Amino acid sequence: MKIAVIGSGYVGLVTGTCLAENGNEVLCVDIDNNKVEQMKAGIVPIYEPHLDVLFERNIEAGRLSFTTDLNEGLDFGEVIFLALPTPENGDGSADLKYVLSVAEEIGKYITSYKVIVDKSTVPVGTAERVRATIAKACKTEFDVVSNPEFLREGFAVDDFLKPERIVIGSSSARATEVMQRLYQPFVRSGNPILIMDEKSAELTKYASNSFLATKITFMNEIANYCEKVGADVDKVRIGMGTDSRIGKRFLFPGIGYGGSCFPKDVKALHKSGKDINYDFKILDAVVQVNDKQKTILYPKISSFFDDDLKGKTIAIWGLAFKPETDDIREAPALYMIDKFLEAGAHVKAFDPEAMENVKQKYGDQIALGKDMYDVTKGADALLICTEWSIFRTPDYKRLKSNLRNPIIFDGRNLYPVLELAKEGIHYISIGRQN
Ligand code: UGA
Repeated sequence: MKIAVIGSGYVGLVTGTCLAENGNEVLCVDIDNNKVEQMKAGIVPIYEPHLDVLFERNIEAGRLSFTTDLNEGLDFGEVIFLALPTPENGDGSADLKYVLSVAEEIGKYITSYKVIVDKSTVPVGTAERVRATIAKACKTEFDVVSNPEFLREGFAVDDFLKPERIVIGSSSARATEVMQRLYQPFVRSGNPILIMDEKSAELTKYASNSFLATKITFMNEIANYCEKVGADVDKVRIGMGTDSRIGKRFLFPGIGYGGSCFPKDVKALHKSGKDINYDFKILDAVVQVNDKQKTILYPKISSFFDDDLKGKTIAIWGLAFKPETDDIREAPALYMIDKFLEAGAHVKAFDPEAMENVKQKYGDQIALGKDMYDVTKGADALLICTEWSIFRTPDYKRLKSNLRNPIIFDGRNLYPVLELAKEGIHYISIGRQN
């Protein structure tokens, strides 16, 4: 099939590349000339494991190409994916200006039947709005379908190539047939392609992300409670997770969820409820608890230093909002850095992939180290914000001799409490007895 993907951000690039990998011809469109030039030169503009190999292979095979010209994309694709940003408005709602302005262009330009696919995470009713916007000027037949993505950063290629489910919201048999043909090769394992109405498909995405964010937040509250009553959240987590109705995944407590999806989507669903006088109380609580959770370790760190962090140096391991990404959007590490700087402390940080992004945000307000041990030299304490694999089995002796005080504050519960006690390291984690 010939496919155009409008918007070469994280979702658009993964979608375009993986569709090409399955034998389709894909043209990716983006307004950013620099990015398009980079991609034409074979450079992937984001960090996403395994994407580079597929990217190169499909460019070489002539199945994946790039342009800044929207009309070229509209001519090229029988299926047009909209993978455009839907940033958060000041009131928490999703801003549809990019999606609707491209829809307007589509309406003015297309002259033959196209399936327009909403891939961006959009509020319920957006497919209808996109359809109405295109229809205003359109002289040919077209269909709009909703096809939300369920890609995790860091695992996006695998998630796309082997999806647990494909959700398609469509009210047209013709468009449904095209979408089924496109996705059939990805679900040979027997995983379902779920066809539903557009509104239900749009809501499936928001409900899934909001549910997962709620699950994590619930566990964070249980962890905080464990600390107060002398229980161990690891044991509680395993005790709960073995009930298949609950499941083992997404029960890991920590210093809050971040990223470009959960925070934005929970707020957007809450706001869209508010707009129709429906008060999503649970989502309101999730946002509040998560904001608090991001700084839950701060009072403990501060009180360890008698509430005087001025001049102290805090080493931080992990800056990305989660491992296997360079994405720092809404990352808990940033909230902690802001707190430390406010208190007059120095920060020395290390992350395997996210340091360039952090440098752009903080400049020389914080120091970045060349490796994980480098930042601990002479530091007064170590704080762990992201559970990258390389942090899981550190050389404790080396750490102890580097740190001025042998203390680790762990926002991701990486180490067994007893092991650290044996090593003579003071260890404070989340929801466990230290
Ligand atoms: C999330 C969803 O998992 C994807 O299905 C969805 O497609 C994507 O958003 C999106 O809407 O585009 P992602 O934001 O990449 O994916 O990251 P997750 O792996 O879901 O993690 C989100 C946050 O939750 C991270 O900050 C992570 O550290 C935190 N988390 C996750 C926990 O604190 N505890 C857990 O047990 C799991």
